Amino acid sequence: MDEYLRLVALCAICLAFQFLRTRYHGGLNAIPGPFSASFCNLWKILAVYNDDMPRRNISVHQKYGPVVRIGPKHVSFSSPEALHIIHGSRQAYPKSDFYKPAAAPFEGSPLLNLFSVRDVNYHSSLKKVIGGLYTKAAVLGLESKIDTCVEMFTNQLRNRTRDDGPTNVDMSLWVHLFAFDCLGELNVSKKFGYLDTGRDFNGFIEGSDKVLIKTGLSSERLNQTSFLFEISQDQFTSTCRSREPSLVKETIDKNCLSMAGHDVLAVTLRTILYYVARSPRVEDKLRAELATLVTHYGSTDAIPYTETSKLPYLGAVINESLRIHGNLGLINERVTPPEGARIDGYHIPGGTIVGINPWVIHRNTEIFGEDVETFRPERWLDGPEDRIQEMKRNLFSFGAGPRMCIGKNIAMMQIYKFITEFYRHFTFELASPEKDWHVIGNWVTKQTEMDMLVTQAKPGRV
Ligand code: HEM
Repeated sequence: MDEYLRLVALCAICLAFQFLRTRYHGGLNAIPGPFSASFCNLWKILAVYNDDMPRRNISVHQKYGPVVRIGPKHVSFSSPEALHIIHGSRQAYPKSDFYKPAAAPFEGSPLLNLFSVRDVNYHSSLKKVIGGLYTKAAVLGLESKIDTCVEMFTNQLRNRTRDDGPTNVDMSLWVHLFAFDCLGELNVSKKFGYLDTGRDFNGFIEGSDKVLIKTGLSSERLNQTSFLFEISQDQFTSTCRSREPSLVKETIDKNCLSMAGHDVLAVTLRTILYYVARSPRVEDKLRAELATLVTHYGSTDAIPYTETSKLPYLGAVINESLRIHGNLGLINERVTPPEGARIDGYHIPGGTIVGINPWVIHRNTEIFGEDVETFRPERWLDGPEDRIQEMKRNLFSFGAGPRMCIGKNIAMMQIYKFITEFYRHFTFELASPEKDWHVIGNWVTKQTEMDMLVTQAKPGRV
């Protein structure tokens, strides 16, 4: 028994020694944060496990200030300066190992796609080759494809709703069906059949949600992506390959094969529908603005993006939705360079994981105003121009700097077009306005429980 007690005591001393070493000997001991975070990853694990990272990340910044140690080698920031140093500048830091699982296997080895690649030079060479396909001018050529998807969405919804009163629709699901089929159409010229069937017919959407929710489950992720790879390869043979010179072919193969964006696009569309439905004042203003455009078009003509993108209030609604509900709920992890860095007054040793959570910076009252919890599109229109520019610089929904979302122009066109046509053809309200929706506060902040009562609009009315 004595032996046994001695062993337990020895283990306890070793453990305590290890904890103290981690807490005081990493160069981060001056940074405030939750106690457990100074010697283990429990705080992070619990926040992810409980799908509650955005709220917990905001609250530790409220408690400890702009720089918070959230793990033994992990620091969370909330200031515009930190955003610029870590993500925005030309010397922005490389991505952490967090992104490793995003490299799905392809022909037997991990596919270094634009999203997952961590080597800064390799990333910039990949981007040089494909960047031109995603410019504002280039994506205008994809507008007709988006139009077919929006039309299919409105037709399907019309077929499934009554014309003499409201019908209950699971809008969380339907925007995802749209996002998925539309990105299929754009990437591989193929709608996958989600809108057609009106359901997640092969369980892929549910599967991909699960993968994103438990981001660490890399092996599961790899299995799920194979479905897309199979479809994409077939489609690719007949599209990109025939048109591009050989180097571009290879690189596009590697990148277009990834169906990035369906989940985050769906998050943004849900946010707009939900917040506008909860604010009749905003909805009236938005519909009034849309009405000024709709009258110039026949009821079956798609309104061009060059027109919808000029609508200031619609633009403000989109920006405010991107701000109030960050599409990603975890910190976009980066690693400090070997020599370390000075950020917000602290020396951060080399190899530390640092970053900013969009939910945290979007609630920085010095940038966005005191009423950060309120959905108020007017903040993007009223007030001094330099203030608005400052907000735009710190809107982090699409990331920042060299690793900013390459699909932003496509996504914005999809959002503008979807919202315009949906409000034009339907009126709708939340089925249970007294209840909040359910938000999964994980890597992608998916929302559920937002059924809507949808009614077909009279032609020519918004
Ligand atoms: C509302 C829709 C979208 C949002 C909010 C969004 C958001 C983001 C964010 C935040 C990042 C940076 C991630 C990080 O640093 O950890 C990113 C990267 C990326 N996104 Fe998107 N995205 C959207 C749509 C799309 C679409 C439609 C595509 C494809 C057509 C796409 C393709 C990519 C790619 C390839 C990257 C990696 C870029 C790089 O590292 O250079 N995204 N996106």
